[in-house]
Amino acid sequence: MSVGNTAEHARLMDGIYRGQRHIYDFTRKYYLFGRDRLIGELNLPKGGSVLEIACGTGRNLHKVAGRWPTSELYGLDISSEMLKSASARLGNRASLARGDATKFDAEALFGRAKFDRVILSYSLSMIPDWRATVKQALEVLAPGGTLHIVDFGDMEGMPRWSRALLQRWLELFHVTPRPLLGEACLGLATRNRMRGRTRRGMFGYFHLITIGWH
Ligand SMILES: C[S@@+](CC[C@H](N)C(=O)[O-])C[C@H]1O[C@@H](n2cnc3c(N)ncnc32)[C@H](O)[C@@H]1O
Repeated sequence: MSVGNTAEHARLMDGIYRGQRHIYDFTRKYYLFGRDRLIGELNLPKGGSVLEIACGTGRNLHKVAGRWPTSELYGLDISSEMLKSASARLGNRASLARGDATKFDAEALFGRAKFDRVILSYSLSMIPDWRATVKQALEVLAPGGTLHIVDFGDMEGMPRWSRALLQRWLELFHVTPRPLLGEACLGLATRNRMRGRTRRGMFGYFHLITIGWH
């Protein structure tokens, strides 16, 4: 994303989340499935570092903190509105910064360049240049680390009417499922001499993807 596009996208996200952030956690638990499964699979080493790119209200980082109390947590988001909620929830427990997921300087923002675990949770469906975001996430992965992604899938197992309804709902929030995400991630993993693994949630509702040296 160019600088102009970044500012425009940031304004769009702030516009959506200025009001939504107050009801986000309560409402999204009914349709952002697979996030707890992703967290359960992080298998974090003692004192390991976790960066969530597009961390939103900090819901996922908060859960990671509960499960791995010695972890070092970092969150990035383009929306200053979402970061207000994340900061209120996480306080000093996480280091938070505003930035564009498609291109950011982790060293400048967080004082560290690499992370043991990187999370992208229901964010690629809101980021127009989602391929650049996955590449950027791999760039900040520490040797031996893993990138964990969860996002909407092809939904092919869902009845047509419910898929159409959900898609119309998601459009209201500028969410676009990326049916080619799994394939693209496997290709990127191979090109980086890493291993990729993709799984489908029930009815193809979500993709769960890991990339690393596992
Ligand atoms: C649906 S929310 C997901 C939040 C959180 N990851 C979760 O699982 O609940 C999408 C988030 O992506 C953020 N976002 C969208 N585009 C972004 C970008 N280009 N860079 C960083 N964050 C972005 C939004 O501000 C929002 O917080």
